[in-house]
Amino acid sequence: MKASNRKIGVVLPGRPGWTKIAGIVGILLLPFGLNRPRPSSDEPVTITFLDPEWSHDLTERNVLPDESLQEFTRQTGIRVKHLPAPESALDQLGLVRELLRKGASSPDVSGVDVIWPGTLSEDLIDLKPYFVKELSSVDPDVVASYTVKGKLVAVPYIADVGVLFYRKDLLREYGYGTPPRTWDQLEKMAARIQQGERAKGQKDFWGFVWPGADGENLTCNALEWQVSEGGGRIIEADDTISVNNPDAVRAWKRAAHWVGWISPPTVVSYQEWDAKNVLNSGRAAFWRGWASDYFLSDESSWLTIRDKIGITSVPGGRAVRAGSLGGFGLGVSRSSAHPAEAMELIRFLVRRETQLETVRSHAEPPKQLELYELPSILKAYSHFDVGQHQNGGGVVSRPSSVTGQKYEEVARLNRFASSAIDESKFRWRATHQARRHSENATQTISRVVGLAVCSRR
Ligand code: GLC
Repeated sequence: MKASNRKIGVVLPGRPGWTKIAGIVGILLLPFGLNRPRPSSDEPVTITFLDPEWSHDLTERNVLPDESLQEFTRQTGIRVKHLPAPESALDQLGLVRELLRKGASSPDVSGVDVIWPGTLSEDLIDLKPYFVKELSSVDPDVVASYTVKGKLVAVPYIADVGVLFYRKDLLREYGYGTPPRTWDQLEKMAARIQQGERAKGQKDFWGFVWPGADGENLTCNALEWQVSEGGGRIIEADDTISVNNPDAVRAWKRAAHWVGWISPPTVVSYQEWDAKNVLNSGRAAFWRGWASDYFLSDESSWLTIRDKIGITSVPGGRAVRAGSLGGFGLGVSRSSAHPAEAMELIRFLVRRETQLETVRSHAEPPKQLELYELPSILKAYSHFDVGQHQNGGGVVSRPSSVTGQKYEEVARLNRFASSAIDESKFRWRATHQARRHSENATQTISRVVGLAVCSRR
């Protein structure tokens, strides 16, 4: 346990060595059973906060340092139990959903990934009437992504976007003045650097690493490839499905070709941190990560290559250049015994984040880090950008607001479709069922979403 975890005010459980949802559910529910008597009014209130960014490695993330929660306790007298979440987005959703649906009083406040509002809307209270002031300064598109049928399921908290990390020292060494703007350029640079580094003796060096395991990160990657070639965004604003079209197929074939060429064969089992570890140990030239991986992480997680990296927008294809919109908001459980205190915590955290953004937008740029043509959404960092900020990529949203409760199913089907293009490389879903699904992806998604669309209207 970190030393600071023991300070008064914030009650933190020990570092989790468990990953199975069932185990976590059991452990979390133990002290907050439904039959537990409510504390008498003179007892200090303790609320629980399930934090998706506080995952298995306490040294990595710095989104919410313990000191902030202690400050909250000092200001309000309300105590906070800070609960960790599993690593992958899917496991996190499974845990949050299970806890909320059990009707337990814990967690009072939950982190809500930008793609979850449709899934969790019934389990969280409408925060719109309580956060009018805070919402007035938030981008309406971001507010919309946390709103379901007029109900504000979560207050936007951390905005995130997919980005490309690159080794600026290697780019210079191999004669590239700027990072790639297109997938074609990335392929050329990655192949050349990989060949050169291997010739120098580093046999396990790879050009480009990315999270290719079956999960939400792959959905984000595949969506970026697809939209960049003009292949659509899975479900369009007019409810048409864009999965089975030549541009999407071309984009996915391109990615399949990377596996074993500029990306390791095992990339298809990489979670985000597996890919990052390859970059961090000096064995890759490019990594597709999230802006938060750098800007909200502890400096120490970059120690090995801190002076050598740059960040730019995810490359583009024939059509556009766009990174997936990510991030999370904060929601209050319908079963919370302390909704007023829970909202007070949200108000405190959102205010603190706004203050930090202001500080970041006036701060000195980090000395060694190179920022080049960042996504335009990262406004607070625009003055660090040595390229032209306005040339950075846009964002692409996953179709979670159209699909509502069906998002997981649609995302999974799209992953099946994208990865079945070349089964020999994307082997993890070369099953009979996957093949059937991929052949019929468009029809299946249409059927699945058809239900969602009907219930939406
Ligand atoms: C990041 C994003 C989140 C996304 C997840 C996928 O945490 O902020 O929106 O769903 O990655 O793994």
